[in-house]
Amino acid sequence: MSDRKPIIAIDGPAGAGKSTIAKTLARQLGYLFINTGAMYRAVAWKALQLGVSLEDADQVGKLAEDSLIELTGTVDAMRLLIDGQDITEDIATPAISQAASVVSAISAVRRALVARQQQMGKAGGVVMEGRDIGTQVFPDAEIKIYLDASSQARAERRHTDDLAKGFNTGSLLTTQSEIEERDTRDKSRADSPLVQAEGAVYIDSSAMTINEVVEKILSLVS
Ligand code: DC
Repeated sequence: MSDRKPIIAIDGPAGAGKSTIAKTLARQLGYLFINTGAMYRAVAWKALQLGVSLEDADQVGKLAEDSLIELTGTVDAMRLLIDGQDITEDIATPAISQAASVVSAISAVRRALVARQQQMGKAGGVVMEGRDIGTQVFPDAEIKIYLDASSQARAERRHTDDLAKGFNTGSLLTTQSEIEERDTRDKSRADSPLVQAEGAVYIDSSAMTINEVVEKILSLVS
């Protein structure tokens, strides 16, 4: 019998709790945690730094292919490096959230990042979260989760997080409309839109605690 550990793929819209849940699972299971959104954020950050238009598919695609993007550190202290530069804090802003959503619609960007994510997770024993993990990156993952929540619940969580990080985010309604704008873009793009993967377990976390969601997913890991 193989002792290969499973891949846990978690997809869902912004603010559904994917990172918190994925980190808790990775910690409890001793698995690797891979936050793929950070990689799209890094590409957006670099494009903005270089003054490249986010809509310029050729240039942004090339930039994604040519950049060295590394996720290092531990589950609780993950760092994102691009070309050796640590930009972990720079990519956590609401502006980069929107910019990442824009560049993630570019096929060449997706191709470059998906190939690297497949490399990073192929050995198993990994919790990988994003928008297309169960549909594109690891369609054969042993466990697939689609983690959802109402846009109101997601906006409330994101708003509280942003305030804690010291961002001047405006009202709760502004956060909710930004989240809805990002949902629409992520769900309607032509390449790898956010959808529930075949075989994925649907979890609505609107009225669930982190522990309840974690326990539910752990019950699927035999
Ligand atoms: O998970 P996040 O908020 O950090 O992701 C930022 C954006 O990156 C998100 O709006 C869409 C894109 N993304 C993606 O298209 N595919 C992924 N696997 C992860 C993120």
